[in-house]
Amino acid sequence: MSTIAPESHPRSSAPRKTIQTFRQKKERGEPIAMLTGYDYPTALALDQAGIDAILVGDSLGMVVLGYENTIPVTINEMLHHCRAVATGAKSALLIGDMPFMSYQVSTEQAVQNAGRFLQEGKMSAVKLEGGRERVEAVHAIVNAGIPVMGHIGLTPQSIHALGGFHPQGRTTTTAKRIYEDALLLEEAGCFSIVLESIPARLAELISHRLTIPTIGIGAGSGCDGQVLVVHDMLGLFDRFTPKFVKRYADLHAEMQRAFVEYIQDVVARRYPAGEHSVEMSDSEWQLLLGELSEENGK
Ligand code: KIV
Repeated sequence: MSTIAPESHPRSSAPRKTIQTFRQKKERGEPIAMLTGYDYPTALALDQAGIDAILVGDSLGMVVLGYENTIPVTINEMLHHCRAVATGAKSALLIGDMPFMSYQVSTEQAVQNAGRFLQEGKMSAVKLEGGRERVEAVHAIVNAGIPVMGHIGLTPQSIHALGGFHPQGRTTTTAKRIYEDALLLEEAGCFSIVLESIPARLAELISHRLTIPTIGIGAGSGCDGQVLVVHDMLGLFDRFTPKFVKRYADLHAEMQRAFVEYIQDVVARRYPAGEHSVEMSDSEWQLLLGELSEENGK
């Protein structure tokens, strides 16, 4: 990174997308494209590409901070990344993911922490995990004027209760529960719901029954929109790649290639070359040498 700003960054001039944009897209049958983002340069690139929404997901615990799962992520870690994303993205709808234990203890705590995402994190909406057990919290947060995105199916914050990162809703009983949860979350005021890792036919059925848009991840093509973890689709997360991820780049390999080339250049003194160095005029240089030799002669 250079600390000298050559010029201001090109900015997206598209108007800010809102939860109304989500609703209109569903009404028109236009798919919604969402990705996660955790930092300023990625947010800038996502925004300039025309993404509808950026989710500052608590997946950052795994793909950015290297934690084993999303459980240790704190609200302050989330807010730190939310602010960076908000600085880079001027057009996408910005959604902050409420981390584990920031909304489960009480409804008051849920509303207060959701408010922090807007006031301190500069987000426009929050997301939280869970179905019927979250209805009261969703209702209270929405009543405070904060748009809420739901998240059902595979909910990573419940990984210990679910017994691992496994697809959900593959039996009649579990599928019916997910279906009912979706209806309850819509009724509680969610503006959209993430459906993670559930059978495609169940996700399609839910998407048809709801008036709010569904955003699928590992839930087939019948959802109203799609989301992926940006590090997964860019090939930046090396630990595992879920089956549903399509890789659009291999940036881990590209980073390694660049790092190896840099090390080789430094070792061989190929870098920095003349064009990377600061110039000084011959006249100033001669004056300096003259002054130094005078001082040395004293
Ligand atoms: O944290 C996250 O990135 C998410 C998405 C997988 C939906 O919740």
